[in-house]
Amino acid sequence: MSEQWYDQADTGLAGAGRVTVLSRADVRRCLATIDPVEIVRRTLARHDRGESLLPAEAYLRWENSRGAYTRSIGMPGAVGPHHGMKIINASVSNPAAGLERAGGLGLCFDAETARVTSIMEAGLLSAVRTAAVSAVGVDVTGFGGAGSLAIVGCGAQGRMHAALLSRRLPALRAVSLHDRDPAVAHRLADLLSRDDLEVTVHDKARDAVGAGEIAVFTTTADEGYVTPDWTRPGALLVNVSLGDLADETFLDAAALYVDDLDLVADNPRRPLGRLMRDGLVTRPSDGTAKPIDATLGGLLTGRYRSRGTARPHVVLNPFGMGVLDVALYGAIASQARHLGFGSLVDLG
Ligand SMILES: NC(=O)c1ccc[n+]([C@@H]2O[C@H](COP(=O)([O-])OP(=O)(O)OC[C@H]3O[C@@H](n4cnc5c(N)ncnc54)[C@H](O)[C@@H]3O)[C@@H](O)[C@H]2O)c1
Repeated sequence: MSEQWYDQADTGLAGAGRVTVLSRADVRRCLATIDPVEIVRRTLARHDRGESLLPAEAYLRWENSRGAYTRSIGMPGAVGPHHGMKIINASVSNPAAGLERAGGLGLCFDAETARVTSIMEAGLLSAVRTAAVSAVGVDVTGFGGAGSLAIVGCGAQGRMHAALLSRRLPALRAVSLHDRDPAVAHRLADLLSRDDLEVTVHDKARDAVGAGEIAVFTTTADEGYVTPDWTRPGALLVNVSLGDLADETFLDAAALYVDDLDLVADNPRRPLGRLMRDGLVTRPSDGTAKPIDATLGGLLTGRYRSRGTARPHVVLNPFGMGVLDVALYGAIASQARHLGFGSLVDLG
């Protein structure tokens, strides 16, 4: 059929319309004008009060021509005036090809028409959102006075976590780093270098973990290897990768915190979801097995109480809530409009 035929068969009404496209540089400029940690904090609390929509995520996985784990995740969400979706794709073979492992798009929707109004680079914001959740988590679980921090896995997430937490922890004096690629850990050490901070790169993950009152796991490990005897007594283990902690490290935890119970329970491909599926870990107050103690939003609204630092260790397992990204996309899009950043594309 000809182009003219399609033209005649078309409705003649407005289609997708005009969309603002924000590059990573635009996103970075807008980020400098907002407080992402505060936005994440507010959105976690609103989520706890039932003021958000967070459907299950769509997950597509395949192996690329190198046999590497490759995937796409679609994460829609809505909070207040903000409706949107995160599309975050990744392949573990990307870094060897000089690409970031993960990359994607953030979409904002018009609340009335549901049209896409903005499209923005989402890789940087994904790291910012995830580090902001950890920052709120550190605070609300009672670890804001920590003097030492360990980062295991010093890629995109590890760098953003180190950068953000090292600015937000007033008593921080020592940072321990480990990456299976030592050059990556040394690059992060250079970034953190500051007179009042002792930064050590460890050859062994165990040595880094044992040195941290807070240990953040941002590797791509898919099998748990961090056992309870690795940890500093009373430490907070932030399991961002969802994969580094061995089952007994969850089961032995003095307190177990998550961001969203349904997301964790709906994903038995991740260790904590598998422990829930197998009946070894339950929702709060269930009483039949080891319970999850609280959600971050519930700690923020006062529905739950933190146990503070507790032995042998405390675990925070932030699954990753798309609605937090959507709240950030809304704030970035609004700043971009205000400051005149981005390019307008008319899709017709
Ligand atoms: N929970 C969440 O909300 C959330 C959000 C985004 C990303 N993530 C997860 O965070 C992790 C890191 O993501 P990224 O974008 O920084 O990846 P990345 O590839 O940029 O960095 C990962 C780093 O970990 C290192 N590494 C991998 N396995 C290791 C091991 N066993 N021991 C030591 N170092 C190891 C790699 O060398 C690399 O430097 C991924 O698992 C990702 O799925 C979680």
